[in-house]
Amino acid sequence: MLVVPLDSPDSDLSTVGGKGHNLSVLSRGAINVPPGFIVTIDAYFKFIRDNKHLATLVNQLTSKNEDDLEEASALIRAAIQKCSLSNETQAEVSESLSKFEASINFAVRSSGSCEDMPDASFAGQHDTYLNVPTEQVCQKVVECFASLFTPRAIAYRNRNGISHDLGMAVVVQCMAPDQESSGVLFTANPLTGRRNESVLEAIPGLGEALVSGLTEPDRYVVLRKNGQSYIRDKRVGAKAKAILSVSGGGVKETVSAEAASEVLSDHDVKAIVQLGDKVQQLYSGKPQDIEWCKSTTGELSIVQSRPITTLFPRPNVPMNPLQIYFSFNAVQGISQPIYPAGQDAVRKGLLGGLLNWITWGRHGHTGGFILTCGERMFLNITNPLRNVLGRKFLLKALPNIDAGSFDAVEQMIEDEQDLTMNTGQGNALPSVDMFVQSVEEKVNGTDGLSEIVALQKDALQSFFPLVFQHLLPRLAVGMGSLGALGHLSSSILDGKDLTLTVTRGLPHNVTSEMDLELWLVAKTIQDDARSLHHFKSTDADVLANEYNSGILPGAAQTAVGQFMSKYGMRGLYEIDFGRPRWREDPTPLMNTLKSYVEIKDEHAPDKVFAKGEVAAEQAIFELGKRLNKPWLVSILASRVRQLGGIREFPKFTAIRVMGLIRAKMVEEGNKLVAKGILDDARDLFYLYSDEMDSLAKCELVNCKTIIEDANGRHRNKESKRTHLPRVIASDGYCFFGGSTRATIVDTASMLAGEPVSPGVYEGRIRVVHDPTKTKLNQGEVLCCHGTDPSWTPLFLSAGALVMDVGGIMTHGSVVAREYGIPAVVGLEKVTERLKTGQLVRVDGSSGTVQILE
Ligand SMILES: Nc1ncnc2c1ncn2[C@@H]1O[C@H](COP(=O)(O)OP(=O)(O)OP(=O)(O)O)[C@@H](O)[C@H]1O
Ligand SMILES: [Mg+2]
Repeated sequence: MLVVPLDSPDSDLSTVGGKGHNLSVLSRGAINVPPGFIVTIDAYFKFIRDNKHLATLVNQLTSKNEDDLEEASALIRAAIQKCSLSNETQAEVSESLSKFEASINFAVRSSGSCEDMPDASFAGQHDTYLNVPTEQVCQKVVECFASLFTPRAIAYRNRNGISHDLGMAVVVQCMAPDQESSGVLFTANPLTGRRNESVLEAIPGLGEALVSGLTEPDRYVVLRKNGQSYIRDKRVGAKAKAILSVSGGGVKETVSAEAASEVLSDHDVKAIVQLGDKVQQLYSGKPQDIEWCKSTTGELSIVQSRPITTLFPRPNVPMNPLQIYFSFNAVQGISQPIYPAGQDAVRKGLLGGLLNWITWGRHGHTGGFILTCGERMFLNITNPLRNVLGRKFLLKALPNIDAGSFDAVEQMIEDEQDLTMNTGQGNALPSVDMFVQSVEEKVNGTDGLSEIVALQKDALQSFFPLVFQHLLPRLAVGMGSLGALGHLSSSILDGKDLTLTVTRGLPHNVTSEMDLELWLVAKTIQDDARSLHHFKSTDADVLANEYNSGILPGAAQTAVGQFMSKYGMRGLYEIDFGRPRWREDPTPLMNTLKSYVEIKDEHAPDKVFAKGEVAAEQAIFELGKRLNKPWLVSILASRVRQLGGIREFPKFTAIRVMGLIRAKMVEEGNKLVAKGILDDARDLFYLYSDEMDSLAKCELVNCKTIIEDANGRHRNKESKRTHLPRVIASDGYCFFGGSTRATIVDTASMLAGEPVSPGVYEGRIRVVHDPTKTKLNQGEVLCCHGTDPSWTPLFLSAGALVMDVGGIMTHGSVVAREYGIPAVVGLEKVTERLKTGQLVRVDGSSGTVQILE
């Protein structure tokens, strides 16, 4: 084969050389490459064979020493240039050329058999001729052959121990049409090694001015993240000179007019980077050094791609999450590779042993924290860097170990948003999720009431061990830090308020996350005129029925459905397994949504939450400054904020598990209804679990009587009590009182309780016994016995909260702080002492509620 088409499937390195082979891969990979053909390495060897004196000259080269190179090179090149391609080769070239329009000019480009290889690029060793008219192509092919013997090519081969009898193919390729600009693109940053950064260089005119170093290009560093490109850095080059095609053939050097302005628009830059991504994918993701051209109409073509050979290997771990390693070799001053046995002696022996010792035998056995890369050893320092104390320690220690590494690490901390601080939650949340998933699988696998009753016991029994193992230690750190912060700040004015403010807008709090998602549902309804009108004009119970029948206005039906799939197992008084969940009775949720859709944007929960976060940050700063211990305050506060939100998680987990089991029980209950054993599936919840089990085993003959009895107990006079003793004793003693503070006297017009959310607010009382039945007007003071998550939506409209029960971390207090409304709890009989409509002043800092009218 003397000539092959550029996109020939038969092309390989030994027939078409490195550049030709890569162009063939690109053309076949649906990349826009100017078409053409390749004069093969066979044609070159035939050329040498046909001209025997050339072979002799090549063979003599090996014996030449450096000083004689120039002369030997001149001799052999002159000899080559005097010869012509064989008739056979010329005929094949002519035939290939005849497929293109006569007016087209070509790029005639050397493609050595060792070029553009993963380990050696041979970049710029051999000649390329641009804008060659058809009739000169054969001559230029011969000149390319001759360029195999330039003094620098010979010297390069000598240096790299490569023999001189290697071959060369020549790419003959149409010039990229109407070329306006060109340049190179590195799909990884060769300076920093970052594989998610591309470096692009652009000049006006032909790329030769750039690859030959004639001109200074525009230079862009582009970050690629999640399929998007962001220009990180831009430097406009002088571009004083350009090389342009001359009509009729050849090129000329000019002084460029576009020197000051950018050659490419940002849009072009991103398009070229995206194209580079596509090219890289053709090479199994290996970073590429690409030459590109852009036409006046914006069409992009690629004229070369080869691996970047200078990059240090990337650690063999996923790119994300970002891991940072520190060179063991550098510290030891060894630039050489370390033997495997030597690596293991350090990995599993010395340093593994150290880690093993300081972690009480939990880590270090495998030395997994030490990575081998390029046969050098690196220590993973990601975890300490993502931890407040670890980071401080490392930044203090590193300058003494290796100043250069310190600079690098400091720089990384500065530019890497990805190096976020560890939340301290570690794998707690995923572990809990896995537990819930396993319960779900088991629930789906049960058959019959008996099995689900047994599963309920098992699942709920494993709940607390799980909480103790994964959540409690973290929560303890969070709460302990809050306690310490409270203790520290007790000495300063407003210290308590500031400490409480630190807990506003807490992240990772499932209840506030749920509220924010419910707000999104409300926003969807607000944005859809039909849904909004329907929600405003329809009662909650009707909306609930419509939702269950799937006939709410489309936008609302979908949005509520999505919310239900995540939170449908929650409900009013949800810790009581017997109570219906939102999924079964959506009325309370519809009630809430009805009040949510009335909320104006400035009171939107997401805005309120964001304000809370800002207030917390300010409080941390203020406390640090006033206590003159910014460092300590910031450590304690970051623990409070990262871990405090977990507080709602144990209960949420229990509710998720109970929701799964309850749904299955209702299913089983319906089967019993079909058999006539029960009147209503939910009557099951009037049975204790032993009774349920007996019922399942058909041993509970008098089940309807038992259910009636239990139902009666739920409805008798006792069950109507709203005021319950807090403490009872076997002798009948009952303690009904709430918490009272010694310093403030409870009077007729002044109620004293526990301050749990700072601030003072004056407003009118709304006593609420059942959150599903009462709507709060904007700004009213929510007055109730106690709250649970289903009450949360009322907080949006509330101006302050006063409650009978509770302490600093009970649900109502947490949510009040989240929403930044003053709250006082532990106010004895508050729902009886205050009346709807009364004007009060709630002081969440001192813990008092003053009746104003
Ligand atoms: N078909 C073409 N159309 C337009 N310009 C081209 C074409 N082929 C090559 N060029 C331009 O000519 C420049 C040099 O070509 P080529 O890649 O063959 O040689 P080089 O880059 O100097 O050396 P190397 O052999 O290391 O690649 C390229 O950067 C490119 O911009
Ligand atoms: Mg090139």
